[in-house]
Amino acid sequence: MTHPTTGEPTGTEATMFDVAAERVAGGADAAVEAAAIVAAMTAEEQRWCLDGDHPFWADLSEMGQGGYHQRTFPAARVARLGVPGFAFSDGPRGVVIGPATAFPVTMARGATWDVDLEERIGEAIGVELRAIGATLFGGVCVNVLRHPAWGRAQETYGEDPVHVGEMGAAITRGVQRHAMACVKHFAANSMENTRFSVDVTIDEVALHEVYLPHFRRIVDEGVASVMSAYNAVNGEWCGQSRTLLHDILREQWGFEGFVISDWIFGLRDAGASVRAGLDVEMPYRMIRAFGLEDDLAAGECTTDEIATAATRVVATLLRFHPVLTQPRPPIDVLAQPAHRALAREAAAKAIVLLRNEPVDGTPVLPLDAASLRSVAVVGRLAAVRNLGDGGSSDVWAPSVVTPLDGLRAALPDADVVHAEDDASIAAGAQVAVVVVGYTKADEGEFIGDSGTAHLVALMPAADEPEVVAAYEATRAAEEHVFLPPADAGGRDGFGFAKGGDRRSLRLRDEDEALIAAVAAANPRTVVCLVAGSAVLTGSWDRTVPALVQSWYAGMEGGHALADVLLGLAEPSGRLPFSVPTDPAHLPDFDPDAVEATYDGAHGYGKLAADGHVPAHPFGFGLSYTDLSLLGIGAVQHGDEIVATTTAVNAGKRAGVEVVQAYASVGDAPAKLVGFIRVELDPGERKVVEVRFPLARLARWDPEVHGWAAVTGPVQVALARHAGDPAATAVPVHLDAPG
Ligand code: BGC
Repeated sequence: MTHPTTGEPTGTEATMFDVAAERVAGGADAAVEAAAIVAAMTAEEQRWCLDGDHPFWADLSEMGQGGYHQRTFPAARVARLGVPGFAFSDGPRGVVIGPATAFPVTMARGATWDVDLEERIGEAIGVELRAIGATLFGGVCVNVLRHPAWGRAQETYGEDPVHVGEMGAAITRGVQRHAMACVKHFAANSMENTRFSVDVTIDEVALHEVYLPHFRRIVDEGVASVMSAYNAVNGEWCGQSRTLLHDILREQWGFEGFVISDWIFGLRDAGASVRAGLDVEMPYRMIRAFGLEDDLAAGECTTDEIATAATRVVATLLRFHPVLTQPRPPIDVLAQPAHRALAREAAAKAIVLLRNEPVDGTPVLPLDAASLRSVAVVGRLAAVRNLGDGGSSDVWAPSVVTPLDGLRAALPDADVVHAEDDASIAAGAQVAVVVVGYTKADEGEFIGDSGTAHLVALMPAADEPEVVAAYEATRAAEEHVFLPPADAGGRDGFGFAKGGDRRSLRLRDEDEALIAAVAAANPRTVVCLVAGSAVLTGSWDRTVPALVQSWYAGMEGGHALADVLLGLAEPSGRLPFSVPTDPAHLPDFDPDAVEATYDGAHGYGKLAADGHVPAHPFGFGLSYTDLSLLGIGAVQHGDEIVATTTAVNAGKRAGVEVVQAYASVGDAPAKLVGFIRVELDPGERKVVEVRFPLARLARWDPEVHGWAAVTGPVQVALARHAGDPAATAVPVHLDAPG
């Protein structure tokens, strides 16, 4: 027999769970087997499955001291029957426990448009997750970016549901070869500071067409778990929204996994949350542990509903048993060389070249390493650990290659000098690289006064002594004690940072002043933007010849930046969001609002509908070579459209094109329906096919509360970015579905 959590052999008798798992592996129905296990539980054991296993106060006091990075959050373990429960670790930029690989943030990975790479990153994360003893990865964050000021923009893949859905499905596939994945935050979670209080009013059409399709895509991929959001949608807290958790997720989409709450304040009422379809309150013994029995007695939920929730957890564990009992990887897989190489590949592929103008007749980039003797690297962020926000997604990478480290390593024979804010060092150098943007102090998960004072009443008066005793026993038996890396906090200090939504989409004034001073001192100035989403650069970007968005680039980010600036890797990133010329062109965004109304208009669709030309369009990125798309054909094949073009690389360097399919029906703005990333050798022409399901064109019909297939004429274009003037659209006449 195998140990229920570690997968290691125990040599003991088969438990009820073991026997059921074997039957499920042989084809038995997991839900039926799980129901039998749950029926064998006591009422107390069933309720135990419905929240985290750790005591509230004891673990909370550890969390701020780094405990969040030291141990998993277990839940739903019933040892008597062999039910292993699950052990949660967060993400999304890697595993947050131990000295794990810090990948570039999700938004940077969104800029790669590389689903194969994202799947490989998922696999690496899955392996590291198992090595630290976790079984559930909470890092598939796919809330669409409605507005670039969202503090947690860096945790998602971008503004478009199709793109976000494909990238999220890819990481889910990768992770789930080794563990279970959890997609979050369901749903319409795209404001940070008021996340515990905001009620998002949203009509059915916008909800289904813009804010949910990517979740559906990942449910269809077989994700094990869904995390509900903190905010309310249409007056119901997401953690107790029967509309979202029961009607949509389970009835309409057929989700068979389990739903967990977001942490601590993700639900308000024990019984109502069970009735709505929230299976597990995370991460502690809190609202349900102290309130569910009373709510049950008051008729706010039933014992059947409790058993159903427990059954969904156990059924998922049975389905994933073959995956979770694979031998546990050794701890030294954390940040192992292959994973660092993957982080470097991702960081290089993510870099978006936004501007590359000639100086003395030649574009400034790529730099010629062979002739470079002097480089000035300027800026607050050039030589600091800056992996992203300081909230739940923080990764304790054991080391970080900063931009300065990367350039010095790549140019051993050059004099690479650095100053934080002294532009004069740029004057004599052959090139100046300015690294500016944000840190965890500027944007990220908000760890401040979120107006939660009234929610303190939800906290238990004291922990249950037997739960504390069990917690202390597991702590005493911990295999590894993980300590923070020496420079864990970067310049903003160790641990959590205030973060939150951005109040401005521009750089700090001092960064803009520094760019002006460096550009005045050196005509070959390259600006690198470190940020989790759009930065408005229109007031200064024409004063510098080269501009790249280089993101929170992960632990190998400095090497990747050098790779791209020196032309060892091609700049193949494409913006996963639109950058407007004016914030007024975006939807309303008030970080302090406790009521917000979302319609379907945001991103490139809104800009196009309003006739605003973006500063940099969605899907845009320059290359060092000469890329174009030649011609287009599109036909319907059953329930798919197949669009074809020829990608041409007329230049002398290899290059990468991200071919994007956009479709429009009638007067509606064109929307992304598919994409493919294509590598092209110098001079190569490649026939490229983008296939996408007709379902991506369907419209939500509020009269029938369901999807209406589109028939008749549809315009399909293959383009290099949204609104690409070089792209011609061809009509496809869609037959009614057969
Ligand atoms: C965040 C989630 C995260 C959870 C656990 C919450 O505050 O909103 O994204 O998964 O903490 O770390």
